[in-house]
Amino acid sequence: MAERKAVLVVSFGTTYRETLEKNIAAIESAVAAAMPERVLRRAFTSGMVIVRLKKRDGLVVDTVAEALDKLEREGFTDVVVQPTHIMNGDEYDKLRAQAAPFAGRMRLRFGAPLLTALEDYRALCQVLMEALPAPEAGEALVFMGHGTGHFANAAYAKLDYMLRDLGWDAFVGTVEGYPTLEEVLHRLEERPDLRRVRLYPLMIVAGDHAQNDMAGDGEDSWKSRLERAGYGVRCHVAGLGELPGVRAMFAAHALAAAEA
Ligand code: CO
Repeated sequence: MAERKAVLVVSFGTTYRETLEKNIAAIESAVAAAMPERVLRRAFTSGMVIVRLKKRDGLVVDTVAEALDKLEREGFTDVVVQPTHIMNGDEYDKLRAQAAPFAGRMRLRFGAPLLTALEDYRALCQVLMEALPAPEAGEALVFMGHGTGHFANAAYAKLDYMLRDLGWDAFVGTVEGYPTLEEVLHRLEERPDLRRVRLYPLMIVAGDHAQNDMAGDGEDSWKSRLERAGYGVRCHVAGLGELPGVRAMFAAHALAAAEA
């Protein structure tokens, strides 16, 4: 009997259905298209998102363990697990821990998160610089990453340095890590020529953080705080998964894992 092969694409998940389709489903399709010999499956790492989707929409999404358990029972013997996580942080650790018990029971390989090797940072910078309009004179791009207490948080500062080294007036901040908007505001103050800001989420989906913490009208949103600091602000509420170049990066990581 031929070996049954699958690719399991694992996301944090989102309860925003439109961004789920535009970003998570779009990445899944790109990964599946790159490996047509494999059956595509989906899992989320956020238990909270899984519970809410089921309760509110009746949409059932597996955890990593559930998805692998099903694949094993269906006779799949070769599985590539491709996260859509941006970095090697808590959600990726969780994925690896949930998958670990299956390692001896099937051929199991893991694709890397978006920002893993140095080349990934260069590739993401290139994707962003090709897909987004370059900052005009007097304008800065500010990206909102999620951020984490995990040591992988250093990824944001690395990307922040690289974007400016490549010649863009661009800054990266985070909601829950470092740098925060506070540090971004300091960087902007050092450049009095910059008077306008374009805000983008540096997240795979444009969920709660992007729509409320970044672009919301509440007084603590990044948009409101930047406006109070005197900047003209424009917000672009779209997940990174909407960029074909980002989808291609995930597909390439999955292929590299399959061929390893
Ligand atoms: Co969050």
